[in-house]
Amino acid sequence: MADKDGLKVAKDYHVGTPFANQGDFQVKGANGLSWGMKRRLSNIFDPKTGKTVMFAFDHGYFMGSTAGLERLDLIIPTLMPYVDVLMCTRGALRTCVPAANKCGVALRVSSGSSMLNDDLSHEVVAVDIEDAIRLDADCMAVQTFIGADGQLESIDNLSQVINAGMTYGIPTLGVVAVGKDMERTDRYFKLATRIVAEMGVQIVKTYNCEHFDEIVAACPVPIVVAGGKKLPEAEALTLAYDVIQNGAAGVDMGRNIFQSTHPAEMAQAVRKVVHEGYTDKEAFEYFQDMIH
Ligand code: 5RP
Repeated sequence: MADKDGLKVAKDYHVGTPFANQGDFQVKGANGLSWGMKRRLSNIFDPKTGKTVMFAFDHGYFMGSTAGLERLDLIIPTLMPYVDVLMCTRGALRTCVPAANKCGVALRVSSGSSMLNDDLSHEVVAVDIEDAIRLDADCMAVQTFIGADGQLESIDNLSQVINAGMTYGIPTLGVVAVGKDMERTDRYFKLATRIVAEMGVQIVKTYNCEHFDEIVAACPVPIVVAGGKKLPEAEALTLAYDVIQNGAAGVDMGRNIFQSTHPAEMAQAVRKVVHEGYTDKEAFEYFQDMIH
């Protein structure tokens, strides 16, 4: 292992220079993957735009019932026509999501803590690969706590899931966790996203921050951006616009869709930004036109 002292600061990210090993496949870093992996990644990243609108409603895995998600059976079917991927637990998927739908599935497979714990960083792999296959998952999502007390468990969980995913052709989505011990700086996100990518995931989920374009440039797999806490709709659309402009391959939004006054209309507005090149202002006008 290299000496930690006297390291030069990384700075030459060649932002704006396209990824060199793209080949003819729409997903960054996937050129050398198997047919099955590429097939599943194509269920996540639209082959025409190379981007994705993921809808996260896996909050119950540690928060229990959440505002806006009290009745998954009622809200999820209303949003399915407007999103590319459903990110959820297997409990939600089996009980509340009609199987006859065209959305991809990002299956949350790690868990182990709840809102009652101070430290959320201790998790296990809770869903085995056979159940991910039975559910026809397009990727498996693992929470990754770099720099937290549970870092070693996280890396172990991530490695187990990546190894099983490589055996059966199912991509892994590494979710960079934020928490009270982790800074929300570009320095932290550069470290965490690159570690998770080099562990071997096919997709990274992280948060927006300063110099986000450098984080994208340094990450050899696609980055999807978390929505985070509920913002006014105009601001959430600006978040989506900014990260897409800076190279994100999509968003993975939860509360900014399901806690909107008009969730289905908000999902459609986000879609305009991600897939159709709308600016945040155009998308907000579109949202307002729809709700009035
Ligand atoms: C937690 C997650 C959740 O899926 C995600 O954060 C929920 O989405 P949002 O923050 O947009 O409500 O990955 O790390």
